[in-house]
Amino acid sequence: MNYTKCWLAYPRIQTMGGAPLRVRCDFTGPVAGRIMEELRLAMRALYDKAVEPAKGEAEITVTRNAALHEEGYCLHVSGGRAQITAGGESGALYGVFALLRRAQMAGCAWDELEGEESTAPSNPLRMLNHWDNMEGDIERGYSGQSFFFHDNEVLVNERTVDYARLVASVGINGVVLNNVNVKGAATWLISPRYYAPLRQIQEILASYGIRMFLCINFAAPMELGGLDSADPCDERVAQWWREKAREVWENLPGLGGFVVKADSEGRPGPFTYGRTHSDGANMLADAVAPYGGVVIWRCFVYNCQQDWRDTKTDRARSGYDNFMPLDGSFRDNVILQIKNGPMDFQVREPVSPLFGGLKHTNMMLEVQIAQEYTGQQRHVCYLIPWFREVLDQDMYCCDGPSTVADLVSGRSYGNTLCGMAAVANTGDDPNWTGHDLAAANLYGFGRLSYQTSLTGEEIAREWARLTFGQDAEVESVMREILMASWPAYESYNAPLGIGWMCSPNHHYGPNVDGYEYDRWGTYHRADCKGLGVDRTSAGTGYCQQYNSPLAETYENLETCPDELVLFFHHLPYTYVLKSGKTVIQHIYDTHFHGAEEAARFYDLVESIKDRLEPETYRRLHERLAHQKAHACEWRDVINTYFYRKSGIPDAQGRKIYP
Ligand code: GCU
Repeated sequence: MNYTKCWLAYPRIQTMGGAPLRVRCDFTGPVAGRIMEELRLAMRALYDKAVEPAKGEAEITVTRNAALHEEGYCLHVSGGRAQITAGGESGALYGVFALLRRAQMAGCAWDELEGEESTAPSNPLRMLNHWDNMEGDIERGYSGQSFFFHDNEVLVNERTVDYARLVASVGINGVVLNNVNVKGAATWLISPRYYAPLRQIQEILASYGIRMFLCINFAAPMELGGLDSADPCDERVAQWWREKAREVWENLPGLGGFVVKADSEGRPGPFTYGRTHSDGANMLADAVAPYGGVVIWRCFVYNCQQDWRDTKTDRARSGYDNFMPLDGSFRDNVILQIKNGPMDFQVREPVSPLFGGLKHTNMMLEVQIAQEYTGQQRHVCYLIPWFREVLDQDMYCCDGPSTVADLVSGRSYGNTLCGMAAVANTGDDPNWTGHDLAAANLYGFGRLSYQTSLTGEEIAREWARLTFGQDAEVESVMREILMASWPAYESYNAPLGIGWMCSPNHHYGPNVDGYEYDRWGTYHRADCKGLGVDRTSAGTGYCQQYNSPLAETYENLETCPDELVLFFHHLPYTYVLKSGKTVIQHIYDTHFHGAEEAARFYDLVESIKDRLEPETYRRLHERLAHQKAHACEWRDVINTYFYRKSGIPDAQGRKIYP
């Protein structure tokens, strides 16, 4: 094994020795085997204690309580004894991981460990979407190559098991193996060529309570089946999918379902045939329904051939414009997967208005922990506080609970097929996520999707303790960096919610006009007087896709929050923000501040250099040194650009390159 264990390293708390801990586990399925394995491994590492199975008297008991949620658990620990009760096998596994987490957070002797907790998952579905290609590369992957695919073959090995352990330990219960852009060999994943290894992966995942999903190519009836059409309303096409689904589930029983990117960025879809997204999704849904399959249909649909001269077409509107008219027309086993914002994973965006719009459709929130636009895992950018803000946003769509967290958990409308998905940030790098600190996003996404009431701070603390052990100073430095990292990245990135000032295609590094005259619908509209996009009623009208009072909040300059003000309004550089600063001074101040923050992160890690494993330190040092320099690049490019455009100097007279 040449990779780290991340937060499952179980650094020693205390050496106990003595008689083995007896474990009585009343569950018998495949997950129960994993429970024993985990306890054996963890107790040995944490306390140097052996573990043995017991039938009667035991120090650790894992028992069923049918009254509890299938994936929920109750944990009680006191006086050297732990009782875990759970509704089902997965709940029992989560209870065991909770016990191990609690032990590490307490950091005391096993006999002194005290506490209880009782919980059930906030979201029914807690998924990772891997954008892994069968060739072995990962779309928007920043931590090496795929560990699922290589050279058009499926990989199954020790790392598959360790991956499943890692993500199950934080509550993930669904994994999509392949990229949403299904091309080449990936189209053939649903064919006899690949069933055998896929089934092996599926069984490993299932032994950790995780369901496997696959992305499919909407044009598969043509590319695989040799038909001359993929029209969802053509009976031959529907028949082909019915037969395909039967074959797939015969070979991969327990498969969760299909994920579809259709009519988006060049991928095929129902539009080609003049059909709607519900025609497409429902045809597939009917095909997979007999096997309990689900169709997850992505809402990332927009015109990517826009003319920059056209100021009326607004990409931000497209999700709502495309899907709102279809509300209520999707089958019960269809879930619409909606990106957190209306654009595309920028460092700051408003929440997609679709969450407040759809009332009769299953919904899932899609976020991205692969840091495509947030530093590509070379910069530290801990995204959990950002996801918290998204979850806490009230959409004012019903009388009852109506935040995004309420909507995607099913609390608002009683849906049972809903939840959260993240575009994953893993690869075959030795530390899994490229940047060691990016593992906090993987850990955090799982924890947050299981329990949406957790805060970014709580999760950061847990992750730091579990990863680095009982060193209070290391923990506090890591927590400090993580919590300051998203605000810092936002500070030296595009200002005030406008987004997109990055290099085209690869999306790394500053390029203010990189997308300005392009076809992607992502403009800042800066001139010598000001910048921003007018999305009020006088502009593109996007504000009106929100419910009242959110629509008015964004529409009116007086109430629009500073951090999103350029997303919604075109403003002069001299406009005074709520903070009391002008737009131009805000740009200068935040960019100087952001670069200072990056330098501070570097210094903080230097201050604990001797407390880290040399290899961990080396990796962190290399990334933080790069970030420190690259943040200066962002600062200088953005500040100079706006100084040249506006001609207004920095009120504090700092260095801005002319
Ligand atoms: C972004 C990203 C693409 C990805 C797409 C998607 O546009 O840059 O690589 O395919 O999102 O979410 O489908």
